[in-house]
Amino acid sequence: MHKILFVCLGNICRSPMAEMILKDMVKKRGLEEQFEIASCATSTEEIGNPVYPPARAELARRGIPCEHRRARQLTKADYDVYDLLIGMDESNIRNMHRMLGGDPKGKIRKMMEFAGSRRDVADPWYTGGFDVTYRDITEGCEGLLKELL
Ligand code: 4NP
Repeated sequence: MHKILFVCLGNICRSPMAEMILKDMVKKRGLEEQFEIASCATSTEEIGNPVYPPARAELARRGIPCEHRRARQLTKADYDVYDLLIGMDESNIRNMHRMLGGDPKGKIRKMMEFAGSRRDVADPWYTGGFDVTYRDITEGCEGLLKELL
């Protein structure tokens, strides 16, 4: 079983997009039984809120189902539950280290590392570029699956 937790600032754009994109890839490969995939926020800003409509619309354009879900914040317990905790950008990674009190088991990774890059996933919050975010996350998830399977 691979247990993956995607993490971003608000848990209404990038990390839920990653959650839905990876769930879709896994489903298309018939591997649903082998994966547990979720997402959460570092901040309290959007807790309880649904996926941001433009993020949902981008997924819909790509034919990817988007579950109805509500934003939740990362907890210390998540560190034991999940095998990989994947941040979208450098500031997510810093916040995760701080909130979790370190990373003794080396579970914290940055998304684009799986695509062989040190850059951040494009943040659509200020640019509205949800298509660019979609492409980055898809690349990252493809690399992640390659590494895991
Ligand atoms: P996300 O996007 O971290 O990709 O879910 C954001 C959502 C909310 C805020 C920033 C980014 N905010 O400042 O409230």
